[in-house]
Amino acid sequence: MERTLVLVKPNGVERGLVGEVVGRFERRGLRLRGMKMLVVDRALAERHYEEHVGKGFFADLVSFITSGPIVAMVVEGPSAVKVVRDMMGATDPVDAMPGTIRGDFALDIGENVVHGSDGVESAKREISLYFAPGELVSA
Ligand code: RTP
Ligand code: MG
Repeated sequence: MERTLVLVKPNGVERGLVGEVVGRFERRGLRLRGMKMLVVDRALAERHYEEHVGKGFFADLVSFITSGPIVAMVVEGPSAVKVVRDMMGATDPVDAMPGTIRGDFALDIGENVVHGSDGVESAKREISLYFAPGELVSA
């Protein structure tokens, strides 16, 4: 079993896509182990996206992810990191396959609706940024 962090980004919340995104993961058989709505502040955004510090898109990325409420969730299942990434589709929605979340609901790389951790170690780090241990339930 693995856990991964999923965010419905501000444009996904604004567009009313939370249920759509959560429903896809639930119907796939993944389990929700924690979920909350919050507004990400600059400090959290910079820690979350620390791997991208110094890149040309970093300022826009921080500005976007702090622009409105997001929904953060911990999703659990077999190979959850890969399964969620595959269901999200390519980073640039123009390249994302139909049937994926980005392939069905996005066109702009800067506003690609969802985030999913890109590895087991980053998932652990990111989950701890958004959730205290007591906020997560176990099987
Ligand atoms: P995420 O972290 O949001 O799940 O996305 P990802 O792993 O698919 O992509 P990542 O490389 O981690 O990039 C994080 C977010 O930065 C924006 N980005 N813009 N303009 C660009 O070239 C560019 N590259 C990345 C995207 O919004 C991406 O989701
Ligand atoms: Mg990433």
